[in-house]
Amino acid sequence: MARDNQKSHFGTALSNLHNGYTDSLPGREEQIERLRSFLTKHIDDHVPASMYVSGPPGTGKTVSLHSLFNSDVVTKNFNIVYVNCGMIKSANRVYIKIAELLKLAGSTAQRECKVAIEKYLKSKHKSVLLVLDEIDQLSTKNQTILYQIFEWPTITNSNIVVIGIANSLDLTDRLLPMLKSKISLQPELLNFPPYTKSELANIISHRLEKSGISDMFPANAIQLLAAKIASFRGDVRYALDVTRRVIELADEKIEKKIVLGDVMAVLNNVYSTSSALDNNDENTEKLPLQQELVVCALLLILSSSKKSQPITVGRVFDVFKKICTRRNIQARDLSDFITMCSLIETRGIIKIQGQNVNRLSKVIMLWDKNEVDDVLHDKQILVDILNDKNLL
Ligand SMILES: Nc1ncnc2c1ncn2[C@@H]1O[C@H](COP(=O)(O)OP(=O)(O)O)[C@@H](O)[C@H]1O
Ligand SMILES: [Mg+2]
Repeated sequence: MARDNQKSHFGTALSNLHNGYTDSLPGREEQIERLRSFLTKHIDDHVPASMYVSGPPGTGKTVSLHSLFNSDVVTKNFNIVYVNCGMIKSANRVYIKIAELLKLAGSTAQRECKVAIEKYLKSKHKSVLLVLDEIDQLSTKNQTILYQIFEWPTITNSNIVVIGIANSLDLTDRLLPMLKSKISLQPELLNFPPYTKSELANIISHRLEKSGISDMFPANAIQLLAAKIASFRGDVRYALDVTRRVIELADEKIEKKIVLGDVMAVLNNVYSTSSALDNNDENTEKLPLQQELVVCALLLILSSSKKSQPITVGRVFDVFKKICTRRNIQARDLSDFITMCSLIETRGIIKIQGQNVNRLSKVIMLWDKNEVDDVLHDKQILVDILNDKNLL
């Protein structure tokens, strides 16, 4: 009984650890200040402005912008229009989405929406803060959409600030020189570098404190974990994922105190290529729920598609979203989804092709159904999902 209580306390702590919400963002003070002064300057000087935010996934770009949405400078002055471009079906639907968020009733055709938005920008209106997250997804052959949107601030009296957030450095390399030569208004640049070792350690300690379980995680174990993840890619989501797994592992122990060996064990497990077959059943580390659902989504698609047909990240993402809706689980956005896929990839379960992963990247399943069964908490999940062809 006592153990059950402890478990549920643990469950809450673990979900806190993963919770997107956070009241402070250690290591991002400088970037948040830059964003704030950029917006303040626009309000004070009435000058057209745009900004291009870049940085690899998991460096706090999205969460930093969201943290400003509740600040005085934004709530008092701006009408916020936030679009996660990874969530829209195709690039040109972005106009429809923006028109919808600006409450411009009427058309659902993208061309008409664009005209309506531009008309709105020429009329009298409250300042618009347009944030296009994951603009990588708006990238098209000739980049027309991005050029058009980044031109909006230059329309006389348009009173709009455009902030684009890009995840892939590759896009930045290609796009930025073109943007600079094509449009009259140079976007300001803001970079989010990968988190350093000490920043990651700070973030983890802060989260553990908030979750009320900092006692069990000694400082040297946090340092080790942070150092390893920083040398790997500085993506805080990996750091939080490993932290969570270490805690789960320690939870199985009686004294519940983490030692360096626990951190090493999880890191070796995550970053080695050994497959589940090397482990015996008891030691097989189970997948977190959302990752389980991703793998199930993939198996479902495989069970109904032709062998020769490649499966894309976008396809798995669509099925995954449906499964989440069906189970009342809040689905993650595309970039979170891609991070989850790479976490699954580190276990050797799947392989994602290409360097810059996006909707069109191909996913290959490396394990068979029986091997997957071993890493599921609840084997019934897979059976239920495989039997539900409506999810396709
Ligand atoms: N400095 C930080 N402190 C605490 N949590 C953070 C910090 N930076 C990012 N996170 C958390 O990590 C996750 C990924 O951050 P996110 O802003 O989505 O990254 P990006 O948009 O750069 O891919 C989110 O859950 C966020 O709450
Ligand atoms: Mg993001």
